[in-house]
Amino acid sequence: MATYTYGECIEQSYRVNWKIKDVMGSLDFDLDRPWLPVALSGGSSIFCLSPEEKLKLTQVEMGAYAHLFAFVETFIAPLMADLALDSQGVNGAAFEALANFASEEVKHIHLFREVVRRVDIKLGFPLDLVAGQTEVAQAVLSKNKGAVLLLTSAIEWFTQHHYLRSMSQSDELDPLTREIFRCHWLEEAQHARLDHLETLRLFKDMTADERQEAIEDLIWLLVAVDGLLEQQAVLDVENLSKHLGRVFTGVERKEILEGLLQAKRQCFIESGITHPNFLELFLSVTTSAQQARVQGAVALLLQKRPFH
Ligand SMILES: [Fe+2]
Ligand SMILES: [Fe+2]
Repeated sequence: MATYTYGECIEQSYRVNWKIKDVMGSLDFDLDRPWLPVALSGGSSIFCLSPEEKLKLTQVEMGAYAHLFAFVETFIAPLMADLALDSQGVNGAAFEALANFASEEVKHIHLFREVVRRVDIKLGFPLDLVAGQTEVAQAVLSKNKGAVLLLTSAIEWFTQHHYLRSMSQSDELDPLTREIFRCHWLEEAQHARLDHLETLRLFKDMTADERQEAIEDLIWLLVAVDGLLEQQAVLDVENLSKHLGRVFTGVERKEILEGLLQAKRQCFIESGITHPNFLELFLSVTTSAQQARVQGAVALLLQKRPFH
């Protein structure tokens, strides 16, 4: 079982903490390179696009990626501020580490907004992006806190997966994307460890009914995330059409939408819930029946075809 401490997390946080200008200050997106690692793009399963069009697809997908991260961080920041209050006057190191976590997440929201702004400028038109950030955050925060923490843990661990994919030298990834992924993971590495500690703390005091509620709410949250991904995939098809200056046929549109949704599910759901560190945590706070319940629900979710 992993052994993390609040004190080590806050110390490491201060060692690696960056400013937005350190990430974005000296680099700009290069239109001749992919802006998302090939492994995270839907391009590989879409056959109606040429290699040049697939490269442009990653540019549209990067805007959506940054927006979706700012979207989820809109509920992670207040969750951490709330959890920090639990430790105030009880565990000083936990209070400091969690308050700092909330503050870093607010900074990340600003970073990703700046990324979207840069993408829009570079592409020459504003991307269509899924709306309702504040309302979704409120709905998420009304759910069982253990469920929201488990979802958050999956999200923060998949940031590592994305960073590792961005390190592949073979896809000539844009240097600014590489820097964004590297810097994000530098701070997320502490967040993921704090999620682990807080999840264990919360589940320890839960009744069996509360734990069951956490499992049902976790499934609800995964379905909600999938709904957002589908909405954004639909908008990505329109954004791509604008970027390419090309109108797609019905068949092409369907193929692109399915490829995009599959890639977004891999990026924002599967790479989190299959991350070994998330699994270690999930298995330690659930019964085998609860694990089977989540696995079954996720399998059904990932098979679902786009509604649009
Ligand atoms: Fe973040
Ligand atoms: Fe984070």
